Amino acid sequence: MPPAHPLPHPFFLYGTAWKEDRTAVLTELALRTGFRAVDTANQRRHYFEAAVGEGLAAAYRAGVVTRADLFLQTKFTYRPGQDHRLPYDPAASLSEQVAQSLASSLEHLATDHVDSFVLHGPASPYGWTAHDAEVWEAMRKERDAGRTRLLGASNISVRHLLQLGAGGAELPAFVQNRCFAHTGWDREMRRFCRENNIVYQGFSLLTANAEVLHNQLLADLSHRLNATRPQIIFAFAKAIGILPLTGTSKSEHMQQDLASLDLTLPTDAVEAIESLSG
Ligand SMILES: NC(=O)c1ccc[n+]([C@@H]2O[C@H](COP(=O)([O-])OP(=O)(O)OC[C@H]3O[C@@H](n4cnc5c(N)ncnc54)[C@H](OP(=O)(O)O)[C@@H]3O)[C@@H](O)[C@H]2O)c1
Repeated sequence: MPPAHPLPHPFFLYGTAWKEDRTAVLTELALRTGFRAVDTANQRRHYFEAAVGEGLAAAYRAGVVTRADLFLQTKFTYRPGQDHRLPYDPAASLSEQVAQSLASSLEHLATDHVDSFVLHGPASPYGWTAHDAEVWEAMRKERDAGRTRLLGASNISVRHLLQLGAGGAELPAFVQNRCFAHTGWDREMRRFCRENNIVYQGFSLLTANAEVLHNQLLADLSHRLNATRPQIIFAFAKAIGILPLTGTSKSEHMQQDLASLDLTLPTDAVEAIESLSG
């Protein structure tokens, strides 16, 4: 059975990776600009989750948003994906590490639950392992205890998800993957997600697809639709069912990225961009 996820999901996610000392200010700015969904991770190597919490707190204090207006997403990251700043005891079992990581996220974000808790990546790129099964079961328990509403999996293949499902476990509500045009914009995974009621979140839509951004087709569409090339890419993502992430650090780009949601591409443009891919 596909998982039921009754909550409306957001239309754009603001990504908080790689912002270090600017994390709080940029998170607050994203909320002031209109983002209502925030993606982070309890992985200090690439994210500063406590500072995301500071940005949220500043926005709450200023009356910009309340917790109830927001969709907050964080991740559990295995030890090899972390540096020395761990959100759990490395000697603890994986199940305990999951519980400790989420407890620490809830403290960072000053909330009693997140909206989505994501496995940052499976233990092996080749298949779903016993470690993943243990972690996924621990994440399910966190969900059932109300500390997250939904579960997600990132940096994952259809093969992993088939193996996860074959073991009788519940599929995620979200998949979050880097989306390359040359893989047909992750066509195989997007199809699997459609068939299984999973929302596909795409990251690196701009940075992984420079060849598309610089294609003449994008220049022509940009001129024809009076939109920037990144806006065309985000509007295209929306048209093919991708929930996009942006981690922009610029106020102007935040506004443009959100405005791209109002841009509806003609069908021929969607097909043309899709056909640029592999
Ligand atoms: N699950 C994972 O393993 C994973 C991995 C990577 C990322 N993520 C998530 O995804 C988020 C986004 O990461 P990303 O890899 O997609 O890269 P990104 O941080 O969004 O970077 C995108 C680049 O595009 C530029 N950009 C954004 N909007 C633009 C616009 N309207 N016009 C021109 N340039 C624009 C940004 O430059 P400016 O700052 O100058 O606008 C930036 O250089 C991360 O913050 C993180 O939350 C997850």
